[in-house]
Amino acid sequence: MTTLFINIKELIQVREANIKKVSGKEMSILPTLKNAFLLIKDDRILDFGMMTNLSAKADKTIDCTGKMILPTWCDSHTHIVYAGNREQEFVDRINGLTYEEIANNGGGILNSAKKLQETSIEDLYEQSAVRLEEVMKLGTGAVEIKSGYGLTVNAELKMLRVIKRLRENYNLPIKATFLGAHAFPKEYKDDKNGYIDLIINEMLPKIAKEKLADFIDAFCETGYFSVKDTDRILEAGKKHGLIPKVHVNQFTTIGGVQVSVKHNALSVDHLEVMSTDDIYALKGTSTMPVALPSCSYFLSIPYTPARDIINAGLPLALATDFNPGSTPSGNMNFVVATACIKMKMTPEEAINAGTINGAYAMNLSDKVGSITKGKKANFIVTKEILSYGAIPYNFGSVLIDTVFINGKSI
Ligand code: NIG
Ligand code: FE
Repeated sequence: MTTLFINIKELIQVREANIKKVSGKEMSILPTLKNAFLLIKDDRILDFGMMTNLSAKADKTIDCTGKMILPTWCDSHTHIVYAGNREQEFVDRINGLTYEEIANNGGGILNSAKKLQETSIEDLYEQSAVRLEEVMKLGTGAVEIKSGYGLTVNAELKMLRVIKRLRENYNLPIKATFLGAHAFPKEYKDDKNGYIDLIINEMLPKIAKEKLADFIDAFCETGYFSVKDTDRILEAGKKHGLIPKVHVNQFTTIGGVQVSVKHNALSVDHLEVMSTDDIYALKGTSTMPVALPSCSYFLSIPYTPARDIINAGLPLALATDFNPGSTPSGNMNFVVATACIKMKMTPEEAINAGTINGAYAMNLSDKVGSITKGKKANFIVTKEILSYGAIPYNFGSVLIDTVFINGKSI
């Protein structure tokens, strides 16, 4: 089955297959074709070009006059498998408590873990599927999902099995990350090495045996997992074939970037607090820095210094961090707008960060992230807009007409 999209006002992010990510000054270039066509066959992009060069016929033709097409968002950092919500903590913060104080009082990640442990796998799947469908309608066409709200062998496995079931039932690329090292359970408060042993000796072998994860993560942060802990966990994950993708520098800079780079991490995520040494450590590496501006917005913490990172010649990806505590939103359109408004990224840089660089941060650049022959037919058809800059400019508006995943409208 072939479908031809004609009269596309602007076809955005057209790339050759060899481009896997864009860095530094390259990020300000967003290649597009004006007055274009796009031809897809089943779930793949077959061809595209200028309307003036169109000769192909197709089983079905869709007129896009006034509308633009861009690749679906690649959300490389989420925690969408969770149980219930943390609205009470949201209100507690409004009333003056800090995120840290709430966590120290047994709230935060441990609160979500308690809820998740008490939730059946069926119920957890249903709650998570609702969130996944919501973000797909908002234009997300590839997503990474983490465990880390289980914190027991059984509950971590339950989370990863839910991610597996989502992957089986939804036709977008989904990558799974094992984040057993998200917080120390109460029982291990005074035996931190005991919990790390549990992760390494009990959880990891079971996860590897069932092939439940692609990546290994740890929350490397003051009061959570130290650089030494993170080192052990990444090393153990790698032994089971899991690639590191790590939470670092959310609140403090303690060497999380450096230990991640040492282990050839695919990405380092958060980076709200970055020293010049941290930026320097990323130069010449294959590690993608990932910013999560919705988290900064929701918690009122600093935004990742995107300008410093890009001006140093580094790449940058944008993701949502969708989770119940720090970012109860999976809207990549809002992320792209907030990156422009608060992090001084240009629309071109932000769209590159939310598509091709996001794909890289999930090891999916051969499948998604750009309009490229042979890649998946995962793209957004916009409403009639004056320019693609409207996507960040008209923040809060839904400018999506239709989302196509695997060549089918959803
Ligand atoms: O990426 N920072 C660590 N983990 C999550 C939020 C955890 C929570 O509050 O539930 C994050 O922001
Ligand atoms: Fe996160």
